[in-house]
Amino acid sequence: MREYVIPFDTAHIPKKYADVVIIGSGIAGLYTALRLPSHMDILLVSKGSYKETNSYLAQGGIATSFGEGTHEQFYKDTMICGKGESDTRAVWAMIHGASENIGALEALGVPFDKDEKGQFLFGKEGAHRVSRIIRSGDHTGKSIMDVLYHRVKEKDNIHILDNVFAIDLLTQNQQCMGVLIMNKGKVSAIYARATVLNTGGIGNLYAHTTNAKGIQGDGIAMVLRAKGQVKNMSYTQFHPTVYYNPHHRQKQSFLISEAVRGEGALLYNEKGERFMENVHPMKELAPRDIVSKAIMEQLRKQKKPYVDLDITHLQEEQLKERFPTIFSFLKGYGINMATDYIPVAPNMHYFMGGIKVNIDGQTSIHHLYACGECACTGVHGKNRLASNSLLEAIVFGNRIAKGIHTWWDKEPIAFKDIRCTAFHSNHAIMESQETISYWMEHYFSLNRSMEHVEHLQKQINGLNRSNKNKLTVEDIEKMNAVLVIQAMIKDDMQKRESLEGMTYGTTAKS
Ligand code: SIN
Repeated sequence: MREYVIPFDTAHIPKKYADVVIIGSGIAGLYTALRLPSHMDILLVSKGSYKETNSYLAQGGIATSFGEGTHEQFYKDTMICGKGESDTRAVWAMIHGASENIGALEALGVPFDKDEKGQFLFGKEGAHRVSRIIRSGDHTGKSIMDVLYHRVKEKDNIHILDNVFAIDLLTQNQQCMGVLIMNKGKVSAIYARATVLNTGGIGNLYAHTTNAKGIQGDGIAMVLRAKGQVKNMSYTQFHPTVYYNPHHRQKQSFLISEAVRGEGALLYNEKGERFMENVHPMKELAPRDIVSKAIMEQLRKQKKPYVDLDITHLQEEQLKERFPTIFSFLKGYGINMATDYIPVAPNMHYFMGGIKVNIDGQTSIHHLYACGECACTGVHGKNRLASNSLLEAIVFGNRIAKGIHTWWDKEPIAFKDIRCTAFHSNHAIMESQETISYWMEHYFSLNRSMEHVEHLQKQINGLNRSNKNKLTVEDIEKMNAVLVIQAMIKDDMQKRESLEGMTYGTTAKS
């Protein structure tokens, strides 16, 4: 693997200049780029391609404010699911921004599913009391991302740089002026008046995840190194129904969308009992954390490492039409959804915590913004309501674009050489990524206890480090991972302390 010397400052390295640099090409990054005025010169840099993002993998859909039910009901469902910890202003901003931004996606050409009269088809997922989720088959993320990417490519003012690794933010006195990158064997600087992070969550810090490869908190680590603020770093979400392949457990696991339960799928344990009936009034459509915990409880009691998801009440033709991606994926493993049960178990899926941003996506560092899963707007509280993530991404992406516009003509910037010293005191980690993700899987899981977290902390504190002066991308990824995990542990412990007198772990969180 290629090694790079990280410079002490930007004085003698190649430089590029842009008006806005967006790091990451998920839905929020691409959409923000499209919502910024065409006179701005925008550079979109990304670790992989737009297809290697969680947005591209999104199956279920986008929650809307114009399906069944009122705005107040949407607000309540989001708040209840978030355990009352969602930020009220942010939730209302998301709900009020839904029509405008979903309308903008349609205008860009996103093909949402509609009936013969041209009306949206609305579906249901966990913890939604009414049907308010729109979709594009069972590949909503792919449909949106293909359209956004092609629209971005048509714009003369937006330039895409794929396969670029963002090393660190260029900051001075808590002002961001761009990013230090590794590209084609060279370290260089991109200076920009505004920097937007859209680097995704943390899924790959775990041994098994529904997240795309490479999503492991790099953007969050950059903010931590720059002494920016983060929030709710211990709030992780495990999706209840992820395909469990007993013969070959892969790191990237395949999601069986909650929309399948929205169409009436039931969950059974090894004894053939419908265990969700005794857990929550919404049964299989209870909030995601509750279903995941109930499944974990069954797995502890039974021999099989998975439970069964049953959607056999639908005909094969209906299933092929409604869930084409899932149907064909499972067929590849010899499972016919119309006749067979689907083996499922919970897996790491989503990160509610992240870079702390205000209602306009602004971080604690001047001219640095964050959107999508790397950001913590506060919308999701302790537990995200299904299909709110794509909605949050577009609404807050749009708010960022508007926000940048408000200061553009008033705040000129003089770019200077910036010191990049963060890495010189922060030594490479010698442990493998596999070992670190194994620790996370076991000690920072859904049912973690105080002892688990303390054990993880000991492992992390005991890591061997080396002060080699040439670093590979993998070295930086491991350093990022450890920084993020330390922040997760710290947040978990702080929250535990503030829950004084309450039982920590399964009981307190259920
Ligand atoms: C799903 O389709 O079940 C995932 C949707 C989401 O994470 O909101």
